[in-house]
Amino acid sequence: AKGAAMVTAVAYRLTEQSRQIQQTLAEFRLSKAQLLEVKKRMRAEIERGLKKESHQEAAVKMLPTFVRSTPDGSENGDFLALDLGGTNFRVLLVKIRSGKRRSVEMHNKIYQIPIEVMQGTGEELFDHIVHCISDFLDYMGMKSARLPLGFTFSFPCHQTSLDAGKLVTWTKGFKATDCEGEDVVELLRDAIKRKEEFELDVVAIVNDTVGTMMTCAYEEPTCEVGLIAGTGSNACYMEEMKNIEIVEGNEGRMCVNMEWGAFGDNGCLDDIRTQYDTSVDENSLNEGKQRYEKMCSGMYLGEIVRQILIDLTKRGFLFRGQISETLKTTGIFETKFLSQIESDRLALLQVRGILQQLGLDSTCDDSIIVKEVCGTVSHRAAQICGAGMAAVVDKIRENRGLDHLEVTVGVDGTLYKLHPHFSRIFQQTVKELAPKCDVTFLLSEDGSGKGAALITAVGCRQRELEAQ
Ligand code: GLC
Repeated sequence: AKGAAMVTAVAYRLTEQSRQIQQTLAEFRLSKAQLLEVKKRMRAEIERGLKKESHQEAAVKMLPTFVRSTPDGSENGDFLALDLGGTNFRVLLVKIRSGKRRSVEMHNKIYQIPIEVMQGTGEELFDHIVHCISDFLDYMGMKSARLPLGFTFSFPCHQTSLDAGKLVTWTKGFKATDCEGEDVVELLRDAIKRKEEFELDVVAIVNDTVGTMMTCAYEEPTCEVGLIAGTGSNACYMEEMKNIEIVEGNEGRMCVNMEWGAFGDNGCLDDIRTQYDTSVDENSLNEGKQRYEKMCSGMYLGEIVRQILIDLTKRGFLFRGQISETLKTTGIFETKFLSQIESDRLALLQVRGILQQLGLDSTCDDSIIVKEVCGTVSHRAAQICGAGMAAVVDKIRENRGLDHLEVTVGVDGTLYKLHPHFSRIFQQTVKELAPKCDVTFLLSEDGSGKGAALITAVGCRQRELEAQ
């Protein structure tokens, strides 16, 4: 009888344990009503960012990009492009040919940016960038060419023209000093001058969302929205000039870099944020900022997972109650690990293998729980990202006074491309929350590099016209 009582006690503990785990995860499971609320609030923030009187203090900045149209196929020439702010730093040579047999040919090299440089002084960061350009030009044998350059700089920039933009604030893993508030194009030009090795003509500063939109629009003219779901999260779209109150003029459209990662920085998402989101924020380089991004982008999903695992371990539900050094390490769960753990093709034994690689000894039960935690966190990420996108496409539809809108969204980013479920859940959510829009998603091929070159081409042409 005693044995039986013990079995019951163990079974009870197990059900009580799984009840508590489910209760913890329940906070991440949003209802349709909650998602519609997220969409509605995003829409309200969009309006605040666009309006002159509220722009200053708006969380979602809605930054003008001075890109006034998508490509038309007449872009032509050789361009240098830089891509800073995603998973890798790259320098590219992009050859665009117009005409009947239009084509884009690209050569690129990836460079490392050491953490000390990302978080050192601005001068060091820009010297490093120019050093990499120098290496690339040597490699291509093009040092004397004075090429036009497009700079994909994937951070919020307050632009006043195509080739001028002040860094509003660093985001993601960057924190170099003396850059915020400065014109990034000037910082680059100064560093090129300091080097005294080659000349370049910096024509455009480009957000990665805009590069992605332009790249997709080059193939598919209905593409008027760009989305990055990668290390960071952000979107851009073609807005009516008359709605962009901080830019003169009412004719036509301009692409707006939303910087939607900052959605929620005014507290408007507090009711859906969990204690784990708060911990992630507190542990980050930019506390209080980019709260939406911290709920739905690759750089932070693993961190949310880690915070939940720490809590469940403390409560004795995981890893035999032992918090290992690994679990205390920031950034261990990169997007690629989450993607592997959540892959349906992976047996639980393989999940344990991955955790082992990370230095986490797990039982079979542990691995089931870890997988469920990962799935829950990425599901919410895809859904709230989808809610944001639903707000954007509905806004475009209303702008045009349409009952029904067909539009294409150009997409890039490691989370979107690598994760086994993110893109599907994201798309489903957009469909559910914006039923009057028929949205097609197009993956961009190397959007940051190609897009920067396309925008640079348009910029060069504009300059020539103005000079005439
Ligand atoms: C961050 C940046 C934003 C960029 C996004 C995706 O949110 O602030 O400019 O587009 O990451 O890389």
